[in-house]
Amino acid sequence: MSVQVDTYKSTLNTSNNQIPIIDIGDLLDGKKEAIIDVSIQLKDACNETGFFFIINHNIDQNIIDSSFEHSEKYFSLPMHEKMKVRQNRHQCGYMPPDVAVHNDTFENRETALNTQRSEAFKFSFDLDSDDPDFGQNVRFRGFNKWPDPKVSPGLHKSFMDFHMAFQNLSVSLLEPLAVSLDMPSDYFNRFFARSSSMTRIAYYPAIDVKHDQISLPGHRDSSFLSLIPPASGPGLEIMMKDGQWIQQPVVENAVLVNTGTVLVRWANERYQATPHRVRANSAEARYSNIFFLYPDVSLLLECLPTCFSETNPKKYKPFTFGEFHAGYCERNFGYAENWD
Ligand SMILES: [Fe+2]
Repeated sequence: MSVQVDTYKSTLNTSNNQIPIIDIGDLLDGKKEAIIDVSIQLKDACNETGFFFIINHNIDQNIIDSSFEHSEKYFSLPMHEKMKVRQNRHQCGYMPPDVAVHNDTFENRETALNTQRSEAFKFSFDLDSDDPDFGQNVRFRGFNKWPDPKVSPGLHKSFMDFHMAFQNLSVSLLEPLAVSLDMPSDYFNRFFARSSSMTRIAYYPAIDVKHDQISLPGHRDSSFLSLIPPASGPGLEIMMKDGQWIQQPVVENAVLVNTGTVLVRWANERYQATPHRVRANSAEARYSNIFFLYPDVSLLLECLPTCFSETNPKKYKPFTFGEFHAGYCERNFGYAENWD
């Protein structure tokens, strides 16, 4: 099939798409040979860029459009209304501007702390009240804070439809990803049976374009995979292997995917997490909804046996995502550690 590649208007060089495009239609149709085919493409993409597009992903565009409509409505609410669901220690809820501290960024401190006044709303799965993790207050396990449905009618369903659609899509990549790392195809499955994935609904207000401010400083994601449908406007920049920043190209009907630090550690740095940042200098507000695939918070993640040897020893001790993510949040979002 022909694929339409375009870019948002940008001052950066975006003339060539350097991000691989992987067709996962046959994989989702259950064709066995597609696991191998996609795994080969994933291996190349993860080695070369750490970012790739997936097409024929079967996500209903109405689900994506609806999530953006509700995002726009939510962020236009008065501050006191948004603050009623202020982010808690599970990272769920509303994140007001100027609170993130970004200690993991490789930008200098002045740049990191002088970012645009962006806002976010984050959530995970809704747990049943009889779920053991709920009873034990297990961190990062679905303590969502939802706005009053009288104030934001339809938001909860729309956002959860988005979350579940992207959870299912990202899980469909686990088998080819395992094969790409020379592991049995079902290796990752059990680690995501009780996933702690999160969606981040972000808002970058319109600003005076003369300021040329970083909106989200350069960083690597803490996820296993991150899935990014096209934002409402330009801003995402990706660092290529040669150190050059490129603006994200836009591929029609595609979802952009990037690898995160959990995968990097699990695979002993056989794959990398590529730095990226947001510079949304625009006279129009920018909305971006991103899904982060996170594993079970409690299971021990040990270096994959295919990713170390006598000459390439393990670089990381076994870890749980719960511990790892708590450290990440403390370093970067420490302000929310003590909130309810
Ligand atoms: Fe990111």
